[in-house]
Amino acid sequence: MELIYRPRRLRTSDTLRRMVRETRVSKESLIYPLFVVEGKDIMEEITSMEGQYRYSVDQLPVILDRLLHAGVGKILLFGIPAHKDIYGSQAYDQDGIVQRAIRLIREQYPGFYIVTDVCMCEYTSHGHCGILDGEYVDNDRTLEYLNMIALSHAAAGAHMVAPSDMMDGRIGSMRAALDGAGFVNVPIMAYSAKYASAFYGPFREAAGSAPAFGDRKSYQMDYHNRKEALKEVELDVAEGADLVMIKPALSYLDIIREVADRHDLPVAAYSVSGEYSMIKAASKAGFVDEEKVVCESAVSIYRAGADILITYYAIELARYMDEGK
Ligand code: PBG
Ligand code: ZN
Repeated sequence: MELIYRPRRLRTSDTLRRMVRETRVSKESLIYPLFVVEGKDIMEEITSMEGQYRYSVDQLPVILDRLLHAGVGKILLFGIPAHKDIYGSQAYDQDGIVQRAIRLIREQYPGFYIVTDVCMCEYTSHGHCGILDGEYVDNDRTLEYLNMIALSHAAAGAHMVAPSDMMDGRIGSMRAALDGAGFVNVPIMAYSAKYASAFYGPFREAAGSAPAFGDRKSYQMDYHNRKEALKEVELDVAEGADLVMIKPALSYLDIIREVADRHDLPVAAYSVSGEYSMIKAASKAGFVDEEKVVCESAVSIYRAGADILITYYAIELARYMDEGK
């Protein structure tokens, strides 16, 4: 046989395969989502997300030490307040749960990089991501509240804010608010292409944030759409987003690729709660190899073009990276 091309030649040893690898990953690009709950002495496992917990502020050192040890230095903070109302007032309270968590982390763990999720659904009594006008989320009124939330996070010491509400015009309005208050160097990571997804199911259990009526389809995107995602990203970039995010990740690798190709700013992907729970449940049942599936899924997200990966598996992934898996 006189074959000219033998692609298998480059697959003949592990050394060679690693040398010619196209996608390389690093712990520095990992962000771990963290739930902080009101109360004391709480470290409560989330039923639908085995291995993930809600922590009261005083218990945060448990997970922060684990993250530190694993070499994961970035977190995305979510708060679960004790009190909810129609204005989500705990979300922008200077003594709210997230604001107190930020202050503790800044004082006791100065090495951490703190990103905060800016939204209202965990804080509103109706569970929607904004201020209601009847059953419709009032876009422009919600912007004012989102700005107050972002400002309170920045004032408490958040390094970066990540609005996840999907209101129109929120990036421009938030950038102006931050700049006006002197936070010119607090970057905005926009949840630009956020789909109305059933993959958020476990998160809503974790955060108690399921909408009391209806769904989020009047603000989050229809998963049949691709051009709409590109438009959302374009608008957020034009309004001053520093980074853009695609969410969920695994079912939206096509969108990640296209956004990464078209835009010259960092692209983050959020591998959401349902993605975590599916892998966890299947591996617990012995149907798949957890470590291998976690690595393969994560690499597929990077290969699609993500620069940053937000994942509940950050600690495990950091270890696999250390072990050269
Ligand atoms: C808040 C928010 C949600 C998630 C991140 N920010 C829930 C939602 O939109 O219902 C989902 C994260 C996950 O599922 O891991 N708007
Ligand atoms: Zn929300």
